[in-house]
Amino acid sequence: MRLAIIADIHSNLEALESVLAQIRREGAEAVLNLGDLVGYNASPLECLGLLKGEEVWNLAGNHDLALLEPERAASFNIIAHQALMWAIQQMQPEHLEFLRTLPLTREVAGGFLACHGTPTSTDTYIAYHFQGKRVFSHLLSRSHLRICFFGHTHRRALWYRDIRGKVALLEISQPQITLEPEGHYLINPGSVGQPRDGNPQAAYAIFDDEESTIHFKSAPYDIAAAQRRILAAGLPPFLAERLALGK
Ligand SMILES: [Fe+2]
Repeated sequence: MRLAIIADIHSNLEALESVLAQIRREGAEAVLNLGDLVGYNASPLECLGLLKGEEVWNLAGNHDLALLEPERAASFNIIAHQALMWAIQQMQPEHLEFLRTLPLTREVAGGFLACHGTPTSTDTYIAYHFQGKRVFSHLLSRSHLRICFFGHTHRRALWYRDIRGKVALLEISQPQITLEPEGHYLINPGSVGQPRDGNPQAAYAIFDDEESTIHFKSAPYDIAAAQRRILAAGLPPFLAERLALGK
């Protein structure tokens, strides 16, 4: 199965449309969305409408949960908090109902797990070695699971645990990487709607379980149009500026 992995769309309609169009052209059989459908950018209703209508396996992220329970946003930075409060004002009952249906994790046939932050927390990052090791321990405690897809950091990442138990954050030096059949992996496709690894294009990945490959991809999109929407909505201008920088 060719599975498209997307994450951290954050209400960026232009980026989402571009990625979905590219995925369609590439012939992926299913789309797995690792959460944070809303927050930061200015098209929450349009993105939710699109994701609800498409055949997408959506998960909840910390921004989605905070939209449903605003007290969860108390730890957000001021700009993220402002954008979330704006998004809450836009919601209609059907959008809230849709967000309430989203699961926190999902097991995909063949031994793959999907989550937003980690399998046990939407708010926790996998950024440091000890965090990667902790999630590998979780995978190993459920012996049929070999790969965990995650988001939340807005940065592409490929963590590897070899058969000796050594854990490393691999350098993504080429877009397509063949996975070792005996190894365990934690894979972050990057962010569709607010990438933070210096490349402003919308990031996603294609996983092929028969070939055992992960292909990190980017889709160009109309960043200026997304920026105009942010400014027209009265959201903090920094949210528009950062899209052009990929930060
Ligand atoms: Fe996010």
